Amino acid sequence: MHLSVKGVSKSFGKGRDSKLVLDDINLEINSGEFVALVGSSGSGKSTVMRLIAGLEQPSSGTIHMDDRPVRGPGPDRGMVFQKYSLYPWLSAADNVAFGMRLQGRNKRDVKERTAYFLEVVGLQDSASRFPRQLSGGMQQRVAIARALAADPQVVLLDEPFGALDLQIRESMQEFLFQLWERSGLTALLITHDLEEALLMAQKVHIMAPRPGRIVRTVAANLDRSNLSALRMERSFLELREDLAGCLRGLDQDPAALVATSFASTT
Ligand SMILES: Nc1ncnc2c1ncn2[C@@H]1O[C@H](COP(=O)(O)OP(=O)(O)OP(=O)(O)O)[C@@H](O)[C@H]1O
Ligand SMILES: [Mg+2]
Repeated sequence: MHLSVKGVSKSFGKGRDSKLVLDDINLEINSGEFVALVGSSGSGKSTVMRLIAGLEQPSSGTIHMDDRPVRGPGPDRGMVFQKYSLYPWLSAADNVAFGMRLQGRNKRDVKERTAYFLEVVGLQDSASRFPRQLSGGMQQRVAIARALAADPQVVLLDEPFGALDLQIRESMQEFLFQLWERSGLTALLITHDLEEALLMAQKVHIMAPRPGRIVRTVAANLDRSNLSALRMERSFLELREDLAGCLRGLDQDPAALVATSFASTT
């Protein structure tokens, strides 16, 4: 699998009210890669995700899954959103099964995969519980199970832990990273949280706002054998500080940073 976003720009509105939201976005994700896109609020992260998902069309540029252009939503791309997006009237198991039923999979297949993916996210004992009976972290685990169960080629996660409090958030980051390590999924994580991006992704793109554009790409080759220790390591903190400075600079003076664009750190 190869997802490629080439020269994508997006404007909303027409004529004098037209507003350029994304300018020349370029991204590549290969099978098994974990890539992150980091930017402040309003920088256009969700718009990138909606374009890749096929929920919006680019104003210019192209998006391909392998050699097929993306023209609309499809089961090859799984989505996890920030706000709990489970169906409140369905149990955890029925939420996980939902997409597979739409795909027309046979009953036995749906049942087996539902049980398997609930187990993958550690919720086999909560299969019959409804979203309101689950904590925020558990609900997001169901959302991840639902996305994975439909067997996508790439999972798009838009601030999946944004609504969780810090402690749960950290354990969910570790959970997602271990899941990626074990299952070899391909993921694009969208977040405003640099630490979150650096902890998990091998490649981190930094976005500047107004208009949204990628100004720096970092290959974060870190030893991730112990994530909670990594959070405290000097090299990690230095890299985080360096990029945080870049993000702060972006918010204050978008023009100043063009000079430092595309400087790559390893
Ligand atoms: N359908 C739309 N019509 C008009 N403007 C839009 C539309 N969707 C997004 N925008 C604008 O595009 C910009 C980027 O929005 P987007 O939601 O992609 O940012 P974001 O980085 O995801 O922000 P956040 O971190 O708050 O989720 C914003 O200024 C927003 O108002
Ligand atoms: Mg967003």
